[in-house]
Amino acid sequence: MKLAGLKIGMALTGSFCTYKAAIEEMKKMAEEGAELYPIMSFQSQNINSRFGNCSEFKNKIEEICGRSIIDSIETAEPIGPSGFLDILIIMPCTGNTIAKLANGITDSPVLMAAKAHMRNEKPLLISISTNDALGMNFKNIGLLMNCKNVYFVPFGQDAPEKKPNSMIAHVEQLIPSVESALKGKQIQPVIR
Ligand SMILES: Cc1cc2nc3c(=O)[nH]c(=O)nc-3n(C[C@H](O)[C@H](O)[C@H](O)COP(=O)(O)O)c2cc1C
Repeated sequence: MKLAGLKIGMALTGSFCTYKAAIEEMKKMAEEGAELYPIMSFQSQNINSRFGNCSEFKNKIEEICGRSIIDSIETAEPIGPSGFLDILIIMPCTGNTIAKLANGITDSPVLMAAKAHMRNEKPLLISISTNDALGMNFKNIGLLMNCKNVYFVPFGQDAPEKKPNSMIAHVEQLIPSVESALKGKQIQPVIR
């Protein structure tokens, strides 16, 4: 099993169209032996959308991970002092969370988890999904790419004609991206 014994923080933010694929990848990580610690932003816990009902998503995520969701800033904060995560994944990561992370803002459970985890100098892996990746958030993605201990799941344009600024991670590359980040390496090519 590729991820046996690893403690992985699995943080979700409000890119609801990506949840189905993200949940599939969570299942694969659990099957590979990872211990998953689910974390959700406030928006991701509370928004019902055409992509699904938030309580159904939460139930499914808790079932796969076998533990309760870290759903508040106070329950995310101990990730820092206890230092128990080997790696933290933000998947999907919205433009909103990218912008805040790049600017040191910590006002959601996911951002608190990231700040707490980063103080321990362990890898943070970002799987983006945002319509403004090549627009308002281009600078923030660039900033994070140049940050110590921050890695990206490879990503590319998903609909260049209809949504020219949109980019999305190739989530099927998640497990190799985790393995690479744990070795201190950005998986390449990162833009595909
Ligand atoms: C149905 C729906 C789909 C959304 N999809 C995305 C998305 O794919 N990417 C994105 O960056 N924001 C998306 N958003 C907007 C975010 O949910 C919104 O910016 C929110 O404030 C994100 O908060 P968070 O980053 O704390 O989860 C979507 C919103 C809704 C209602």
